[in-house]
Amino acid sequence: MRSQSPGHVNSGAKRQWDTTGVLLDESAAAGGLIDFAGVFGNKAPVEMEIGTGKGTFLLERATQRPELNFLGVEWAKVYCHYSADRFRRAGLQNVRMLRTDAMPFLTNCIADNSILRLHVYFPDPWPKKRHRCRRLIQPGFVKQARRILMPGGQLIVVTDHMDYFEQIRRVMRDAPGLASTPLPRMSDKSGEIVGTNFERKYIAQGRAFYGLAAMKYV
Ligand SMILES: C[S@@+](CC[C@H](N)C(=O)[O-])C[C@H]1O[C@@H](n2cnc3c(N)ncnc32)[C@H](O)[C@@H]1O
Repeated sequence: MRSQSPGHVNSGAKRQWDTTGVLLDESAAAGGLIDFAGVFGNKAPVEMEIGTGKGTFLLERATQRPELNFLGVEWAKVYCHYSADRFRRAGLQNVRMLRTDAMPFLTNCIADNSILRLHVYFPDPWPKKRHRCRRLIQPGFVKQARRILMPGGQLIVVTDHMDYFEQIRRVMRDAPGLASTPLPRMSDKSGEIVGTNFERKYIAQGRAFYGLAAMKYV
């Protein structure tokens, strides 16, 4: 995470999170396609969030939408385990967390037409020119996003970084089979769009952010 050290969540090294029933084994990202019905024990539609951070968005959304299943994917172990512990403490049955790198995971482990919504909020912007190739949202990512979305499913992205926003807009506009849609509001709190930690921090700082949504059509 860019500007918050793992110390903000009392570092997993000192505290053992209880992730029982929420955290998937990392081998789930190494063994072919994920069986969502097996993972959740039902066939409800699945939404996925990439880069959950501390899990604030998923906590709210999964509480509000018990009829849906949610998979959070987070690379940073401490945030992944912290989020899983939060969801367990909240008694949420419809959320799972997986610690993995999103790009290979999407490519190798998620079936075609299997995701209702893909949420990506405040992805790392990698502002230095020489690091831009590390940004998550590139043409290859958007191609995978479209492949895994159900027809009518949505990719929703919010960022605070203007240059990254322009890149995201370009790659989403140029991707075949995705149509731009109005940005759906995910938070019912006044002044928020998605209700993540980064959004709240930026609102407090008076900083601008930008969102895009696109729907898969066939
Ligand atoms: C800037 S933080 C935003 C966290 C949260 N979405 C929010 O808005 O508060 C970006 C998060 O994405 C995670 N991340 C970055 N690249 C990732 C990847 N390739 N796969 C999974 N998670 C990733 C980082 O570890 C970090 O927690």
